[in-house]
Amino acid sequence: MYTRFQLAKKYLHYYLTASSGKGHGIHSPFVFDFVKNVLNDNTSYPAYQPIEQKRKALLKDSRGIEVEDFGAGSSVIKTNKRIVSAIAASSLKPRKYAQLLYRMVKYYQPATVLELGTSFGITTAYFASANAASKVFTCEGSGAIASIAKQNFAALQLNNVQLTEGDFAQTLSPLLLNCKEINFAFIDGNHRKVPTVDYFNQLLKYSTPATILVFDDIHWSTEMEQAWAEIKEHPTVTLTIDLFFVSIVFLNPDINHKQHFTIRF
Ligand SMILES: C[S@@+](CC[C@H](N)C(=O)[O-])C[C@H]1O[C@@H](n2cnc3c(N)ncnc32)[C@H](O)[C@@H]1O
Repeated sequence: MYTRFQLAKKYLHYYLTASSGKGHGIHSPFVFDFVKNVLNDNTSYPAYQPIEQKRKALLKDSRGIEVEDFGAGSSVIKTNKRIVSAIAASSLKPRKYAQLLYRMVKYYQPATVLELGTSFGITTAYFASANAASKVFTCEGSGAIASIAKQNFAALQLNNVQLTEGDFAQTLSPLLLNCKEINFAFIDGNHRKVPTVDYFNQLLKYSTPATILVFDDIHWSTEMEQAWAEIKEHPTVTLTIDLFFVSIVFLNPDINHKQHFTIRF
């Protein structure tokens, strides 16, 4: 994991070298359309408010819970007592990015959405609210965290979410077999190189040409940057968009040569 200083330097470099978020100079029609209609859609959708209220409540929640720690390299679990508000402050995708994910699902209307890393269900709730016809599969290893996520789904009256509890190492493969096809995935858990590339390879087997894969925090560590470089090089990947804190992979065969964009967001 990079230090705060290293990350800030990387972010500054990204900010100064990325294409303007206005779409100027972006010659790919697909990317231009994404920038105009998804990235820069500033509509305040009504679905945002109840989900952000849940986030606010979590940030004030002083309950202590026993949380499993998925130690590096294995499914070995040790539990730690953690405060809900502290987990909410450090693990949840900030509003700006969570709402971008909402707009992506609203715009591209994937029939199935898979999320690795539910936490308290904030991004899951955005996915589920973006398109009631999407079936949202989300995976979380910590039982205590998952149980709070389930309470949030019930309170937000989201009926299109299925939460699978357990280590991704055990749950992902049977879940994919059961889903048969994944149209959109958000990989936001276990930020290490080998598992990230492994999840990507597993997801590819269940992808279609229209599938979109979103990776969280690929600039978080050298390992994650190596995973991202490998993913970008994969022959089925035709287009990537790096927004620094989230990075997007498109497999669309209509794009006939590989293109990698870095866009300011
Ligand atoms: C960053 S949080 C997810 C945040 C959530 N997507 C949001 O923004 O609202 C990542 C979650 O993945 C879970 N996780 C990490 N590694 C895991 C693994 N190997 N198996 C199952 N869950 C795991 C953690 O318990 C944690 O709750």
